[in-house]
Amino acid sequence: MTPQVRSLLGRLERFGREHDAAETAHAKKMLNLDRETAELVALFLQLGRRRSVLEIGTSNGYSTIWLAASVEAFDGFVVSIDRSPEKHAMARANLSEAGLLDRVTLLTGEGTELVASLTQTFEAVFFDADRTSAPEQFRALLPKLAPDALLLADNVLSHPAEVAGYVAEVEGHSEFLTATLHVGKGLHVAYRPGRPAR
Ligand SMILES: C[S@@+](CC[C@H](N)C(=O)[O-])C[C@H]1O[C@@H](n2cnc3c(N)ncnc32)[C@H](O)[C@@H]1O
Repeated sequence: MTPQVRSLLGRLERFGREHDAAETAHAKKMLNLDRETAELVALFLQLGRRRSVLEIGTSNGYSTIWLAASVEAFDGFVVSIDRSPEKHAMARANLSEAGLLDRVTLLTGEGTELVASLTQTFEAVFFDADRTSAPEQFRALLPKLAPDALLLADNVLSHPAEVAGYVAEVEGHSEFLTATLHVGKGLHVAYRPGRPAR
């Protein structure tokens, strides 16, 4: 990651903290990933040499920058979904400043509908939108996942009741190895140790 991208991430962290403290409408908050969770997500993606990543919940692109910077080394791509056109406009500007916009496709709309329309195969998925639609999204994504898929979901410790449906759905598929990591707001990790497609 270049010093310019690191500096942008630092600025976005400060902006997110200050903005969210002042903003009362939940839908307008940035709700960015905690730094240590972002670092761990990036580590997982790079250790696993992930090249195709789906994110559900872009916000202003803070986490998307981490994802795009992670796949860059493997010439990969990111598809990121959010229902908010305003947040996607911010994400586009931030990704452009990071020099990573050409690695990312931003899809604006409802997560579950957009997931159903995707035609790509994904080696990793990061769930960070409304937690209640994640089980349905997971089911729709199953045929679109690489054999050795990696699934990451934030907020398992901060919102356990809301994430419970997703965790139960994924853990009901015994082919996935799973763990809950006590980092940030809690990161659920699921990995299907299938033969890599490449
Ligand atoms: C926690 S924030 C994402 C934060 C972002 N990943 C980051 O770390 O910078 C959740 C985002 O998901 C979006 N969202 C929530 N439910 C959604 C849904 N059902 N479909 C599409 N977007 C959704 C919200 O607009 C919000 O921007």
